[in-house]
Amino acid sequence: MPSIRLGLSKIVQDCFQAMGLPAELGVVTKSDRPDLCHFQCNGALPAAKSIKKNPREVANQLILLIQEKLSNEIRDEKIALAIAGPGFINFKFSEAYIGQIIDELKSDPLMGVEKRQHPRKVIVDFGSPNVAKSMHVGHLRSTILGDAIVRLYRHLGDDVVGDNHIGDWGTPMGMVICELEREMPGLPYFQPSNQGPFSKESPVSMADLERIYPVASKRFKEDPEFASKVLKVTDALQKGEPRFKALWLHFQQTTIKEDTEDYNQLNVHFDTWCGESFYEEKMPPLVEKLKASGAAKMSEGAWVIDLTQELGPEAPPLLLVKSGGGFLYHTSDLATIEYRVNELKAHLCIYVVDSRQSFHFKQVFAAAKLTGIAKSTELVHAGFGTMNGKDGKPFKTRDGGVLKLKDLIEQILNEARNRLKEMNLDTQYSPAELEDVAHKVGIATLKYADLKNNRTADYVFDLERFSQFEGGTGPYLLYATVRIKSILRKAREQGFEPASIVAPLGEVTEKARAERELMLKFLDYSDALNRAYQHIEPHHLCEYGLELSQAFNFFYKECHILKESDPVRRGSWLALCGLTHDCLVQLLGLLGILVPNRM
Ligand code: ARG
Repeated sequence: MPSIRLGLSKIVQDCFQAMGLPAELGVVTKSDRPDLCHFQCNGALPAAKSIKKNPREVANQLILLIQEKLSNEIRDEKIALAIAGPGFINFKFSEAYIGQIIDELKSDPLMGVEKRQHPRKVIVDFGSPNVAKSMHVGHLRSTILGDAIVRLYRHLGDDVVGDNHIGDWGTPMGMVICELEREMPGLPYFQPSNQGPFSKESPVSMADLERIYPVASKRFKEDPEFASKVLKVTDALQKGEPRFKALWLHFQQTTIKEDTEDYNQLNVHFDTWCGESFYEEKMPPLVEKLKASGAAKMSEGAWVIDLTQELGPEAPPLLLVKSGGGFLYHTSDLATIEYRVNELKAHLCIYVVDSRQSFHFKQVFAAAKLTGIAKSTELVHAGFGTMNGKDGKPFKTRDGGVLKLKDLIEQILNEARNRLKEMNLDTQYSPAELEDVAHKVGIATLKYADLKNNRTADYVFDLERFSQFEGGTGPYLLYATVRIKSILRKAREQGFEPASIVAPLGEVTEKARAERELMLKFLDYSDALNRAYQHIEPHHLCEYGLELSQAFNFFYKECHILKESDPVRRGSWLALCGLTHDCLVQLLGLLGILVPNRM
């Protein structure tokens, strides 16, 4: 079923066009005076100005045209049109029509949201932690946002690949190998004559890697002899030295195994894991091509791509090949784009990466356009701000260290368990169910707290506040959803079932206002999804979910469903409960949040 607002917009835009006025002025928006009308179009004013006519006159002519079209498509007695003020066009739906539209939503699995007419191939690059380092909260935002974006884009019909572009190649790998040699020189990987085969068992655990990485990175900066060895080892690894390759594979697999545990906890899954190493073989031919075409130029021993044409006279060039011959982050990202364009046939690539990398992407995207690697593929950096602690600085542990994602998840689950105990649910539920509910509540807390913020904004993570069952929190939305389920259950026990949704009450009471507000809220669902999709901003979904829950709570307070004596009204209200429930479950699903059976 097409969205009501978009359907109206289309009709009105056609009428603008028929009058020789710019179609884009015919956009219909939600009314800002819901007491007067449901939708409005303000385009007659600028349109009249452009042709130097009286706006009310233009609006009048438009109304006649729109009415004619509406009578063919919807029947005019359902929508009353009127001019307001200097020339606004107001659309007011009849009560019966409101009932009918909302009732139709019940049988529409997409609840009034239209799928894309031309689905696109979309690659979402997200998660993307680094090998030998355990994920920290900085990777959390990419994971949560990216997952929601994948779900939303897929929901609206695109063919989406969620790709984990892990950092599993380059100098850091050489650093870890060299530091490991210092710690355990006796390992077979450090005997030059040994060409394998090597053990399938990793000689290092994740804890070893995490310990080794910072030491190695420090030594690399401070000790030139170590640094030059690292570069040699990295070079040998990239040339395929079997000892180093075998060792590297252990690092990679150990990290992936560890990260997957975190992703499972978060209910996040990737379609592909094409990390930097995947592009290793694809870089040299690309570099050769860029050299041959003249796009890459030699500068002080390095190969660079001049970007002044794209980014302005001050823009530094993109460093493609280091003077020693090594490839860089830029190089692998260009090879990645080439692969996504040529092999995956991507129409759009979305990079869900920290905003602090925005210059990197600016350069890479400019180079991809300039060199023709991505001619028509759209490249978007969906950057995000930092998650800070209460002190306003990037979230840390109590002793000031970087907090690991695993530990944060554990803290959140503990908080959720405590809340449920405070509600005495631990005495009613089996330990297994309690754990399941705690997990769902905990993950909802974390994800909603993250997703509700404007993507690009920094935000303060306040576990206590985000775990509350009131206000704009994950638990609040879950609780609202579960409560509706229990209302429906109770009704069924009394023999009451949802029926057709009928026209809202025509009276001037709080009860009627609450019912109407809930019904009209459903007309905004498709707009919220479209806005989130268009701007790659999941927070619009969070906002809508909160508004819908609040509208429902008001409705539930005013409309005493089980005490209602009119069976038609009662059936309609129960159907509204069902619709609210289904809409919340769907919306939370798009945010990657699962709803428990009860809580
Ligand atoms: N591994 C990188 C980091 O942790 C993020 C990679 C993002 N994706 C990309 N195609 N560059 O900073």
